[in-house]
Amino acid sequence: MSPVIQYEIKNNIAVISINNPPVNALSQSVRQGITDSIHRLNQDPVARAGIIICVGRTFIAGADISEFNKPPLDPVLPEVISTIEASNKIIIAALHGTALGGGFETAMACHYRCAVSEAKVGLPEVKLGLLPGASGTQRLPRLIGAQAAIQWMVSGEHIEAEEAFKLGAIDRIVTGDLLVGALEFANELLAADATPVRLSEKKMLMDSASEKLIADYREKIDKQWRGYFSPQKIIDCVEACLNMPYDEAVKLERKLFNQCKASSHSKALRQLFFSERQVGKVPNLPRDTPVRELNSVAVVGAGTMGSAITVSFLNSGYPVYLIDQDETNLDKGISNIKKIYQSEFDKGRLSDEHLNERLSRLTTSLELSHIHKVDLVIESIIEDFEIKHNLIQQLQTIVNPNTIIATNTSTVDINRLIENTLYPENIIGMHFFAPAHLMKLLEIVRSNKTGKDVLATVTGVAKKLKKIGVVVNSGFGFAGNRIFLTYLREAQLMLLQGASPLEIDKVACEWGFPMGPFSVMDLSGLDVFYSIYKQLENAPGKYCYYPVSKVLFESGHHGRKTQSGFYQYQDSSKHENLQVIEISRQMADKYGIEQRRIDGEEIIERLIYAMINEGVYVLQEKIVSNPGDIDVIMTNGYGFPRYRGGPMCYADIIGLEKVYQSICEYDKQYPGNIWSPSGLIREMIDKGESFYET
Ligand code: 3HC
Repeated sequence: MSPVIQYEIKNNIAVISINNPPVNALSQSVRQGITDSIHRLNQDPVARAGIIICVGRTFIAGADISEFNKPPLDPVLPEVISTIEASNKIIIAALHGTALGGGFETAMACHYRCAVSEAKVGLPEVKLGLLPGASGTQRLPRLIGAQAAIQWMVSGEHIEAEEAFKLGAIDRIVTGDLLVGALEFANELLAADATPVRLSEKKMLMDSASEKLIADYREKIDKQWRGYFSPQKIIDCVEACLNMPYDEAVKLERKLFNQCKASSHSKALRQLFFSERQVGKVPNLPRDTPVRELNSVAVVGAGTMGSAITVSFLNSGYPVYLIDQDETNLDKGISNIKKIYQSEFDKGRLSDEHLNERLSRLTTSLELSHIHKVDLVIESIIEDFEIKHNLIQQLQTIVNPNTIIATNTSTVDINRLIENTLYPENIIGMHFFAPAHLMKLLEIVRSNKTGKDVLATVTGVAKKLKKIGVVVNSGFGFAGNRIFLTYLREAQLMLLQGASPLEIDKVACEWGFPMGPFSVMDLSGLDVFYSIYKQLENAPGKYCYYPVSKVLFESGHHGRKTQSGFYQYQDSSKHENLQVIEISRQMADKYGIEQRRIDGEEIIERLIYAMINEGVYVLQEKIVSNPGDIDVIMTNGYGFPRYRGGPMCYADIIGLEKVYQSICEYDKQYPGNIWSPSGLIREMIDKGESFYET
């Protein structure tokens, strides 16, 4: 018997326990062990039924994702699942933790299912660019109906056991010890002469209501999963479930699963899955690093960002002081916070009681001195080095010597901000993304002097805020903005060369970004970019090409907030701003830039390769510890399509040699070293390396 499986008889019932930490994924040894146990059960004269249960924190959480890049090893999961279902003796799945993907497919192959009420089930394969490929697309509709099954599979959500029970996906909720409850359930079934329920034997029927359901979902998915490959394939499988014999439909499912698995989308999403877990393991920061006590928080600056950061902390249970020295700003901040909560309340996501409880933890003040006792202060004031530096110096004379001071700067180098401060080890960057109460990403920026305990405390805070915290080293724009600014630079250079904001934005959206670069700049505000560009005036050529946005800003066009920027805004509609085309023509003349037609292929290549090249510099300069940090930042904070994996993963998919050759070509065409390729990429090509192991 496989070491990860134990077979034990308890009161004439075979208990098959899986023990494959951390999440009992279905790696080869588990699949082999389950198969062997089912054969043994069927030959065991003592055993009258079987229970599949797991040791540790969860029931099987799915197929082993790390095996997907390798050739499949026997027995493959669909065979294991068929073996379970074919058993002549009743098999019960006993669920706790998260029974997901192949784990829930295993449970559906069992003849009955019981679960503790805290358990969750689901088929989240869509989030990995896959479809449930071990007959899940065929069994789930038979278990809970086609409509609920499609909804579960295209959302990829984890469903609470109680809800699954109501829908019939679970036969019994066990209170108390799971194994005791599962044994009781088995004995009751045996006493009632129950027979194995094999879902594959249930007949399905396509009728006009199902046809409409399928058509509606196809349309819905086009919007919800724009650009993704696998969701429509899930619908194909459900359609097959309704109008094909089971065996044929399973064959189709297998074929489509393999197509999804081989797609670049799934490879990218699987890589992101591991990278998002990797970022939690900060190099040189042992898990047992002591953390500072953190019971109260202050946010200084009640602007849009400061008020949303306040909401984020209130939502996570902290008492929060919101400070602004300007009464009008403070009032606006308070009203912003109330607006956010009101909208949550109106959508039914927040009860009256929770709303009031959260607001009861908010204290507002015009006086900095009121926050002398807090454990963490986050400054969220104007993006100006001098003003931020003065505030941090002032704060350190007010708060305790071990209060952490975080700056929510998006570009300023923290190593400069700590100069001439009393406790540089207490200072760290917490770069939130707008809207801060909703966006998952938090760039945690350490300076050369940030204390390890401070870093450990802030990474813990990120988890408490339910954010993905990525630790980066300091430098202008850190990782995210530095890379994104090269994308915006290239968009603006192409504008000077004759492409319009509308053309460029359309190409970026078709490639998968939720918004194009010019719409993003208008949304954030050209005033924000103006203050960033001011910092760049003496920086090397790679950050130039912003004259159009500068002219727009200086003539009062600040983007959406003034109803005019790269576009004109009227009510809720957006129109081309013809002035922009004229300004770019004038600027092109001034700088001797020839205007021409730029096709979509060139537009997207330049936008993305500019990010890749800058990403390699960020890696080479050790601003981040590995390529996954960049990909997690760009996909979670900047709208880089997840199914493309982030710039570094995408470079691997295209091939580093091809990317490098194009970068070299652009380098020949454009002056100012803006396209100068990083040495690291050449070095990697020479060594035959890629950013990720394949
Ligand atoms: N395969 C391989 N490793 C897995 C895994 C899986 N399916 N699921 C989790 N892990 C690993 C993680 O990489 C992590 O490893 P690390 O400690 O070395 O970084 C460890 O397990 C713990 O994972 P988390 O940090 O995510 O732990 P949480 O407690 O926060 O979450 C979870 C647990 C909800 C199970 C979450 O890990 C998860 O969502 N896992 C993926 C579930 C999934 O997508 N299943 C479907 C797989 S595809 C499939 O089954 C195809 C089939 O239809 C044929």
